[in-house]
Amino acid sequence: MSYSIAIDGPAGAGKSTIARQVAKRLGFIYVDTGAMYRAMALYLLRKGIAADDGERISEACKDADITIEYADGEQQVILNGENVNGSIRTEEVGNMASASAANKEVRIKLVELQRNMAAKKNVVMDGRDIGTYVLPEADLKIYLTASSAVRAERRHKELTEKGIECDFDAIERDIIDRDDRDMTREFAPLRQAEDAVLLDSSYMGIEEVIDSIMELFHGKKGE
Ligand code: DC
Repeated sequence: MSYSIAIDGPAGAGKSTIARQVAKRLGFIYVDTGAMYRAMALYLLRKGIAADDGERISEACKDADITIEYADGEQQVILNGENVNGSIRTEEVGNMASASAANKEVRIKLVELQRNMAAKKNVVMDGRDIGTYVLPEADLKIYLTASSAVRAERRHKELTEKGIECDFDAIERDIIDRDDRDMTREFAPLRQAEDAVLLDSSYMGIEEVIDSIMELFHGKKGE
């Protein structure tokens, strides 16, 4: 039997940093499902397909072979034989991922990959629909959120530190739009599962969130 922890929430709440650390402490593998939607988005962008062209997205996604490997404990996304980890972190790919993730065929394909991984290994999996749809029987479900202002501030700081000029209001608007798309799509939208524990990272440090998740998990296992 394998264990699974589902961490869902909006963009920029700190899911990946926290999920990665929890996985490390437990010796589980960290599965970043957003990276799979990003790889699919990269494939569609390269094909020149528009974000609102549902028909072409449904058709084209069949030819995208997306697999996951691990190198030094880090997830590597392989798209038709090419490691695309270095190409999927742009805003353009993120926005296309959010748009194309509303497509049912795209989701069915990637959810199958995610469920297969969780069936074989102990996982900490983060995304938008892990607790509600991908792994409804997860041992622990966390809904990690933070206010849009706090998330925009973090993103602004991250970009400024990289020397990238950016506008705080535009970043916050982008975050609100992305939340709206992810929460209002018809198929497997972002929402808190009824049995998920809500953690708000607006006023909690990363270590505090990680410690809370570790405590909750050990509590569930009766340790
Ligand atoms: O977490 P992220 O920013 O890498 O995700 C990119 C987009 O992919 C996100 O805006 C919505 C989509 N996504 C999804 O629909 N379901 C998931 N489980 C993970 C991501």
